[in-house]
Parts: sequence; structure tokens; C-alpha cells
Amino acid sequence: MERDVIIACDFDTAEKTYAFLDRFGDERPFVKIGMELYYAEGPAIVRELKRRGHRIFLDLKLHDIPHTVERAMAVLSRLEVDMCNLHAAGTVPMMEAAVRGLTRPDGSRPILLAVTQLTSTDQATMERDLLIDRPIGEVVRHYARNAKTAGLDGVVCSPLEAADVHEACGADFLTVTPGVRFADGDAGDQKRVTTPARAHALGSDFIVVGRPITAAADPTAAWARCRREFIQGGKEDHE
Ligand code: C5P
Repeated sequence: MERDVIIACDFDTAEKTYAFLDRFGDERPFVKIGMELYYAEGPAIVRELKRRGHRIFLDLKLHDIPHTVERAMAVLSRLEVDMCNLHAAGTVPMMEAAVRGLTRPDGSRPILLAVTQLTSTDQATMERDLLIDRPIGEVVRHYARNAKTAGLDGVVCSPLEAADVHEACGADFLTVTPGVRFADGDAGDQKRVTTPARAHALGSDFIVVGRPITAAADPTAAWARCRREFIQGGKEDHE
């Protein structure tokens, strides 16, 4: 799949989601459905957005025993999502089970990504709550390698970790990165942000962008600008 911008549709109802996407006319952006919207609307929202022609990243971050994850992934695969994810902390056997569950009889399956350490977890929290005392960069690389070993396609990570992950797992291993803001935009609650052009330079394969597009006065223009800056890289970055 080509490098692209994925819009995080962090809305709490289907109506708000459709009203937002209707503004794009004939364009069909790649969208991310997270827990909030999925738990509110269920598989119907996925089916409807597929019917409308959107590519979908279903961001449900599964983490359970291998058997349960395998069965749940089989359901998501039948929903025809394009991308889905799990927590690498579930270990290699759980990730292998997820790949089995996702794989259709014809051998095809959605892209499967692993969350390494959440970007909300810092070194101090990881040491205190998880009793992991290795440097967080090493933990992220190790989890990414585990994901690759299990047959996954990539990880969700900070753009600042993308180069490291590619070095550890190869250029073809996907990095899908949130935490993106326009150079002249508001960071909101995101702590370590990069611009679309910088994410390109750092090697992100897909960027996940929510509020800079969903809360923009002109979401279509913001999406087009974001794609231009990310897909082409360079030029419009004032960082
Ligand atoms: O509005 P904003 O651009 O900050 O949205 C980013 C999206 O990416 C949200 O859906 C958020 O939950 C998700 N995300 C993130 N950081 C992570 C993982 C996911 O911001 N580490």
C-alpha cells in the first residue's frame, strides 16, 4: 500500500462520522475507527464505510489469550477491514494466533500492526508499573522484532521511533504513526509531535491524523494539505 494519511474519526456517533465524511464529496479518505466509535456503533459502521468505498484501519488493540484473539481476528477479517492491530505485549504466540485468525481461505488478510509501548507510557511509568527496567527504545525495538517474527506487517509507533524500527526490522516493515501536527498548528494533548513533512523524512509509512483535520474549519483543505506535505515531503515544513 502507498504511503498515505489516515484520518482518525474520533467521533461518538455514526451521524457525526457521516456528516464529517460527507464534506469530502467524491473523495474517500483512508479512515481510522477507534474504540469509541466501534463500541458505540458496532460492525455496522465498518460495513457502511466499506460500502462507501473507504479504506479502514480498525484500531481495537486486541490483547488476550491466543485462542480468543485468533477467533476475534477471524471476525474482523470477515468485516473486510484493511488494517487492524493488537498489543505486542500479548507475546509472540498471541500474535501468531492473530495472523492465523485473520488469514482468509484464499491466503489474503488485512494488514496487521502491533502497538509496542503506548506513547503515553514513559520510562518512569514502565519501570514503576510494568517492572520493565530496560531503556524504552530497546523495549520498542524488541517488541517490533517480536511482531516481525510472528509474521505481522508493522507497528504503530511515534514518528520519532520510525527510523529505529526500520533499522531493526527492515524498510518494508510498516510504521504507522500518530502525533502529527501542522507546523503552524496547535499540539493539543500530544506531547512529542512532528509535522507531516518531518514524518515523511523520518520514514513513516502512514500517518494517523485526528484533530488537525477533524477540527479544522475546512477539513477537506486540511486533509489535502496534510497529504501533500506527507506524500511529497520537504517543501512546506517550517520546523
Ligand atoms: O487528534 P489526534 O491527531 O491527536 O489523533 C491521534 C489519533 O491517534 C487518536 O485516535 C489517538 O487515539 C491515536 N493514537 C495516538 N497515540 C498513540 C496511539 C494512537 O495518538 N500512541
